[in-house]
Amino acid sequence: MSIEKIVSLCKRRGFVFQSSEIYGGYGAVYDYGPLGIELKNKISQLWWKSMTQLHDNIVGLDSGILMHPKIWKASGHVDAFNDPLVDCKQCKARFRSDELVSEETSATDWSSLQCPKCGTKGSLTEPRQFNLMFKTHIGPIENESNTAYLRPETAQGIYVNYLLTQNAMRLKIPFGIAQIGKAFRNEIVARNFIFRTREFEQMEMQYFIKPENDDKSMEYWKNERYNFYSLIGIDSNKIRLTEHGPNELAHYAKEAWDIEYKFPFGWSEVEGIHNRTDFDLRMHQEHSGKKMEIFDQESNHRYLPYIIETSAGLNRMMLSVLSNAFWEDTDNNRIVMKLHPKIAPVTAVVCPLTKKDGLPEIGKAIIDILKPNFKIIYDQQGSIGKRYYRQDEAGTPFGITVDHQSKEDDTVTIRDRDTQTQERIEISNLLKVMKRKIEDYT
Ligand code: GAP
Repeated sequence: MSIEKIVSLCKRRGFVFQSSEIYGGYGAVYDYGPLGIELKNKISQLWWKSMTQLHDNIVGLDSGILMHPKIWKASGHVDAFNDPLVDCKQCKARFRSDELVSEETSATDWSSLQCPKCGTKGSLTEPRQFNLMFKTHIGPIENESNTAYLRPETAQGIYVNYLLTQNAMRLKIPFGIAQIGKAFRNEIVARNFIFRTREFEQMEMQYFIKPENDDKSMEYWKNERYNFYSLIGIDSNKIRLTEHGPNELAHYAKEAWDIEYKFPFGWSEVEGIHNRTDFDLRMHQEHSGKKMEIFDQESNHRYLPYIIETSAGLNRMMLSVLSNAFWEDTDNNRIVMKLHPKIAPVTAVVCPLTKKDGLPEIGKAIIDILKPNFKIIYDQQGSIGKRYYRQDEAGTPFGITVDHQSKEDDTVTIRDRDTQTQERIEISNLLKVMKRKIEDYT
């Protein structure tokens, strides 16, 4: 299955649109349509619940996208958040040099390589470092002294607020702070649809621990985060944990693991789990001149905690969910998005069999019963088969049909998206039946 099929379905059904399409599009930025925003919200709500509600020592935060520029100096992003860039002098194509050569051959003689795009030998420039942060200016005058950055990760907003948060909530180590928000990176090579974009959302959790517990905590979070993917319906054979080699580690990390999904374009990272040690807090302590240590009442001493970070890309997670759900049911000549009902953008479509005889009224009354609990839509256009297939592509797990028998005995049929089987149930039982089916879904 190719990524193009997913791109096309996303546009057709209103999941994801290319940004600024009427102006020819805008590189590596995407907009989320009605179904896309429902899906994205449902995924992020599950993440938020699993991190904050189900862990009583993790609290939430929402920090600014713009922050004091010294933060990015201290964090190392101004000096070290770079990608190595090479250009082809012939066809002007641009590449990340680390993606052109494997680790073993990194001491490459660039002048001997062929351009992967146009094939010209010796046309590649030497790699040069390119900083990924977007710059802007605060106030009316643009100069060095008022440069600000759009945050390239949400993590720093947590670090600089961690003592205020700890005090306000009277937290004791170990504790975590979770945040969902936009991050921006001026990616050199943006590709693979919403996998790598210049504006994206991160779901990050920073877990503050005693330094000696870092290995244990890393193990715990690797398991927790890996298990999350079955909650959003990802097949276990399409998800794996891989460790970063020493040459792949980010400037702040002592140990790092990726959770990778088997995308149509190959295994790629959806989430990172990092042991950031006390690197960030130590740097902020040095640069701000403020103590970043925590006081341990038990041992009566101050220390800088270590941080285990779990950092997921919401858009990438959504792409893994979409790729996982895409099913060409060739037997029935239909495309089905087999989304887990917990995250499906729309939970049910209500269809009156005909537009008359009082059936639409019964349909609308059913929507009133269900809508406090679920996102429900109404459809009376076209043949019932076409209506079902439209919803199969949208990933809607249930089709509720009102027919003439409904008028006689207050029953409707409920159709299952995956098996296409239908059963007749009483309208008064609909809510209960749907809740049970969602809980039992595998
Ligand atoms: N705070 C740590 C951090 O930002 P990262 O591995 O650079 O670590 C974490 O990014 C996650 O953010 C990635 O696993 C990925 O899901 C997402 N991400 C990073 N860059 C992205 C981009 N350009 N487009 C979409 N998602 C991105």
